Amino acid sequence: MPEEEPYWLSRNPTEQQRLTRQHEVWTKSIGYLLHPSIAKSLPDNARIADIGCGTGIWMTEMAKVSPSTYQFDGYDISDAQFQSADSLPPNVSLHTDSDFKKPYPEELIGTYDLINIRLIIISMGEGVWESTLRNVLTLLKPRGAIQWVEGNFFVARGFRGTNATSSGGLTKGQQKLNGTLIERFRYNFPDWTKMYKDAGLEKVEEDVLSTDRLPEQRTDFTEIGIGAVFGGLKNLASTKAEGYWTEQEVEEYRQKAIEDMQSGAYLRWDLHVTIGFKTAN
Ligand SMILES: C[S@@+](CC[C@H](N)C(=O)[O-])C[C@H]1O[C@@H](n2cnc3c(N)ncnc32)[C@H](O)[C@@H]1O
Repeated sequence: MPEEEPYWLSRNPTEQQRLTRQHEVWTKSIGYLLHPSIAKSLPDNARIADIGCGTGIWMTEMAKVSPSTYQFDGYDISDAQFQSADSLPPNVSLHTDSDFKKPYPEELIGTYDLINIRLIIISMGEGVWESTLRNVLTLLKPRGAIQWVEGNFFVARGFRGTNATSSGGLTKGQQKLNGTLIERFRYNFPDWTKMYKDAGLEKVEEDVLSTDRLPEQRTDFTEIGIGAVFGGLKNLASTKAEGYWTEQEVEEYRQKAIEDMQSGAYLRWDLHVTIGFKTAN
């Protein structure tokens, strides 16, 4: 049996800033906050849930460009990264102690027009994608929509600049993290279209982008990647299990990765935005 997946990113102000920056960079690369096929389907009084909402930034940015009649509810297992309540628009609220792996309270079942999920891959293990999808779909009204955005870090690697060896630190860090997570926790990346169809969703669309689509964003993605990869490896190092890098090794490779980036190398992976709609009954 795989071990219980740890939450191997920290929850602190640095990670909060990283999440905000990540939001800006990912959104610019993807080109929309909400897939156009869903945006045109929402009713005037849409109820929208953001699952594993982190700081809540997706909702606060959505609220700026949506009718004020929309209602946004963010759910997270922890409130450690929530924006302060007085900075939230009146139609956005945040709720803590909400675990997306556990059944939702009866009063929430079938009440949302849209579920948004972004970047919870680090809490996913074998079989957990499917069970989490089915669990969150219970929140949707008939014909309600889901948008789930993830990065496929399993295909991530460093691409070099002019120097022939300049991508080594970036690739080694990413592969070390992937290898550790796959071996110990059975981390994987699903076949999204199949998973959605198997869950009974219709009008399924999968929008796949490469993070180097906009060349001017390559360094942005690389900095975010370095923060996640080496932050994650450092947290794993603290468990001192066999095969993990020590904190010292993590720092050595972090420095190497930063030097790689400074010499023009960049980290590249795929972003997947997958949408689908619940049937009418
Ligand atoms: C990498 S952050 C992404 C936050 C946000 N979705 C975004 O894109 O900015 C992952 C979030 O998932 C939350 N999370 C992890 N496991 C969870 C669970 N079992 N139930 C609910 N939220 C969870 C974490 O607390 C964290 O806020």
